[in-house]
Amino acid sequence: MAMRIPFIAGNWKMFKTKAEAKAFAEEFKALYHDTDVKTAICAPFTQLDTLKEAFAGTSIGVGAQNVHFEDEGAFTGEVSLPMLKEVGVDYIVIGHSERRQYFNETDETVNLKLKKILGESDIIPILCVGENLDQREAGKEAEIVEGQIEADFAGLTAEQAAKVVVAYEPIWAIGTGKTATPEQAGEMCTLIRQKIQALYDEDTCDQVIIQYGGSVKPENASDIMANGDVDGALVGGASLVPEKFMGIINF
Ligand code: 13P
Repeated sequence: MAMRIPFIAGNWKMFKTKAEAKAFAEEFKALYHDTDVKTAICAPFTQLDTLKEAFAGTSIGVGAQNVHFEDEGAFTGEVSLPMLKEVGVDYIVIGHSERRQYFNETDETVNLKLKKILGESDIIPILCVGENLDQREAGKEAEIVEGQIEADFAGLTAEQAAKVVVAYEPIWAIGTGKTATPEQAGEMCTLIRQKIQALYDEDTCDQVIIQYGGSVKPENASDIMANGDVDGALVGGASLVPEKFMGIINF
């Protein structure tokens, strides 16, 4: 069995101005100490430089929340991989449910983005998957998430697949205060690992870091991560507050 290092990432979504990001970084660095857990903050594009500078010399990673799959072109409002490589980001969140829901992100574009990142950089993609409430109530969560994994990983080599961080984020648990139970989170993370094993092999699926995301807080983090297949968390709201985010890292 591969030794997977737990990974707690914050996803700020569309929160924090530059001044707010700087203030967060100063407060967070004062609380932060190296642990056995990897950590990163995924911030809006305009705050990436600020965080890279603020976290220089620490083990705190910095991530973007999206990338385009072309190097350049007439794609108003988009940001490319060469641009993010130049900033030096460590991670890129791909296929977050909010992007799938509001910005037309599909398994096809997610797949193109994964291939781009893994083929042309050392940046680690954090791939988000997860079912919505209707799908969960219809008992279709396994089918939906397995379908996303299969479509999103299409054409990736085993070596590339092993580098992907998968975040299982049930849409009904995001920002709702309604956390999945540790059993639900564990079951789905196990299912994702088994699906990756079916697509590749045991060695590959053993290496993949799988996070749970959806209303993770300092109070529920250790229960959620107690399952051996849950290797960490992708944290929205609680990552905006230094003490709360640090509380989760200290789970
Ligand atoms: P919350 O932690 O605010 O529920 O958000 C989860 C999420 O979407 C992280 O990407």
